[in-house]
Amino acid sequence: MPVTEAAQTTAKKTLPDAQTVTAVKHWNDHLFSFRVTRPASLRFRSGEFVMIGLLGDNGKPLLRAYSIASPNWDDELEFYSIKVQDGPLTSKLRHIKEGDEIILRPKPVGTLVLDALLPGKRLWFLATGTGIAPFASLMRDPETYERYEQVIMMHTCRTADELNYGRELVENLRHDPLLGELYGEDFANRLLYYPTTTREESPQMGRITDNLSSGKVLDDLGLPPVSPETDRAMICGSLAFNVDVKAVLEGFGMREGANSEPKEFVVEKAFVGEGI
Ligand code: FAD
Ligand code: A2P
Repeated sequence: MPVTEAAQTTAKKTLPDAQTVTAVKHWNDHLFSFRVTRPASLRFRSGEFVMIGLLGDNGKPLLRAYSIASPNWDDELEFYSIKVQDGPLTSKLRHIKEGDEIILRPKPVGTLVLDALLPGKRLWFLATGTGIAPFASLMRDPETYERYEQVIMMHTCRTADELNYGRELVENLRHDPLLGELYGEDFANRLLYYPTTTREESPQMGRITDNLSSGKVLDDLGLPPVSPETDRAMICGSLAFNVDVKAVLEGFGMREGANSEPKEFVVEKAFVGEGI
């Protein structure tokens, strides 16, 4: 066996819960996505997160929470990641290449699951930055459209290039054979996409909180007022974003639910901020 292959075999034995990287795409200097093999035994609900990572310099696993961005029917797992300057994990993870291994603890959890919401007509996905990752999973899961007549994906970033991962994903979904077969031309009306920027000119601008409170998004998309009778929502962004969106939804008469007690909306942090 060549030396490099022997070394890889040894690495495989020492890395716990190892999965192999199958693809990597860099979206800009601070965002990338990658796919890894899926453990045969891993079952998850679209929207959940797992702990993934690499071996740290001390030889111990260095793990962080990551939303699974692929749907539960996919035979690989996809992740969408920030590259934090000097971040303990992402300063290493940003260098992964096809064929490398990562650690993946196969214990999915999380609140952004369809079961944590009461039935309704419209489902809003409200995300900033990498907070779109759980919705990348849910948007690609046919069960989402079985449960809701309409899904509205609002994604806001500072600049236009930060929207590209979500934009490409939605464009690909428009040509998805499975969803096309199920909904045909009507799929364009089943998934509405509302990307905005806040610090760079783009066709649609503004914070999600402002576009919801002012009703601008409703006017632009031709939707009726948000109501606790018909509308459900999932929120994923920074703590400040989550707190502010939650207040807006509560202003519409919606209540926060959980796996154990489904209500009108659920919230999850896209990351744990400094000092929190
Ligand atoms: P850390 O020491 O973990 O973070 C350093 C600082 O970077 C943080 O204090 C924060 O200010 C900032 N930061 C961390 N993550 C982000 C982010 N995603 N966006 C903006 N700023 C950030 N990260 C992802 O990239 N993709 C995901 O799908 C994802 N899912 C998560 C799900 C949950 C439930 C939680 C709690 C976190 C999630 N994170 C996700 C964040 C992730 O766990 C790590 O924080 C991130 O990978 C950076 O790791 P690090 O060790 O390099 O830096
Ligand atoms: P803004 O540019 O007006 O701050 P960040 O990179 O700081 O996490 O922000 C990501 C996106 O989320 C930005 O477009 C930002 O808008 C928006 N944002 C940040 N905080 C909030 C908040 N509390 N409410 C609504 N939108 C927010």
